Amino acid sequence: MTEMLKTSQTPTVLITGGAGFIGSHTVERLLELDIRVRVLDNLSTGKRSNLDLDHPRLELMEGDVRDRALVKGVMAGVSHVVHLAAQVFTTASVEDPPASASHNIMGFVNVLHTAKEAGVKRFVYASSVAVYGNPAEIPSTEDSPLAPLSPYGLEKRTNEDYAALYGGLFGFASIGLRLSNVYGPRQDPSSPYSGVISQFVRKLWERQPLTLYGSGEQTRDFVYLGDVANTIVTALASDYHGICNVGRGEPISLLQLIDALAEIAGHRPEVLRLPRRAGDILHSVVDPSRLRKTLGVVPAISFKEGLRLLWNATAQVTPG
Ligand code: NAD
Ligand code: UD1
Repeated sequence: MTEMLKTSQTPTVLITGGAGFIGSHTVERLLELDIRVRVLDNLSTGKRSNLDLDHPRLELMEGDVRDRALVKGVMAGVSHVVHLAAQVFTTASVEDPPASASHNIMGFVNVLHTAKEAGVKRFVYASSVAVYGNPAEIPSTEDSPLAPLSPYGLEKRTNEDYAALYGGLFGFASIGLRLSNVYGPRQDPSSPYSGVISQFVRKLWERQPLTLYGSGEQTRDFVYLGDVANTIVTALASDYHGICNVGRGEPISLLQLIDALAEIAGHRPEVLRLPRRAGDILHSVVDPSRLRKTLGVVPAISFKEGLRLLWNATAQVTPG
């Protein structure tokens, strides 16, 4: 599949949010394929150190996806776009909806529109399973009803609506990946809103108590970062247009997560229980059939394998 990317004329991929967790791994995959990569990132949660800035085919442009003139300049010569830049914290979106919408709606429309104007060949963007809210059907298929519980989920749904409208109105095709909960190395645990696995792993290393919001019976469809980076690269090379779930289809509760991590860490953490957070989804699991049928992707890393990979990677950067 990646042959298409390699052989397309002057392949230059713009990755917004490319200095972040998912973005920086996607950049690595693309550089392995001899493709030129341009990153646009405001470094709000992303880091320069996530990127090999000495690489001859990588450029980092520091700036904001909401800046129209900047995005227009950055888009020059770009053949493919992966739009990942976003305010990613569900709880932050509940606390400050206008700020979140500014990044996640205005930023999205600005990149989408500029890409359309520039005639880019392929537009891939990160949506989220947060669009389903508390799903009417489990597992959620792409045709399940959408009922987001947080401004973040609504923003992602709005992205999808804009993308569909641009398809109908301007013939500008795109693929929106409804990512489920991604985990893996480089996910920054430093915000209280950071992804649960990144926070739990750091706390286990530091032998600090874990914070559990709600009963712990809430479930997530955790998918390993490497599988997500592969999916994004495959999506760039495919000609599928529309929406696609990206998950494994296996619900894991937070209580199961704690058990699995305790086994890997070799000690049982103390758990501090706090009330459920506003906007938090109870159960989230997707049907990955379309991912398999349209993109040919089956996430390969099992949950326990992924946790083990993350734990080992953390061991290499954290003194014991
Ligand atoms: P991340 O915070 O590591 O990456 C987001 C990147 O965007 C960061 O590098 C940040 O500096 C940059 N950014 C934020 N606002 C920006 C702006 N206005 N202009 C330019 N750059 C900006 O998070 P991530 O987990 O890598 O998320 C990547 C994408 O995947 C996001 O769109 C997120 O909503 C989506 N997503 C993530 C998950 C997950 O579980 N991690 C699940 C579903 C969807
Ligand atoms: C995450 C992503 C979001 C993505 C969504 C897809 C991040 C920061 N958020 O949100 O971008 O769109 O998946 O489903 O990557 N929890 C605890 N203790 C903690 C931290 C969290 O109990 O210390 C709980 C939360 O209340 C929640 C669950 O763990 O019930 C998962 O939380 P989190 O990892 O933040 O993921 P989502 O909110 O699902």
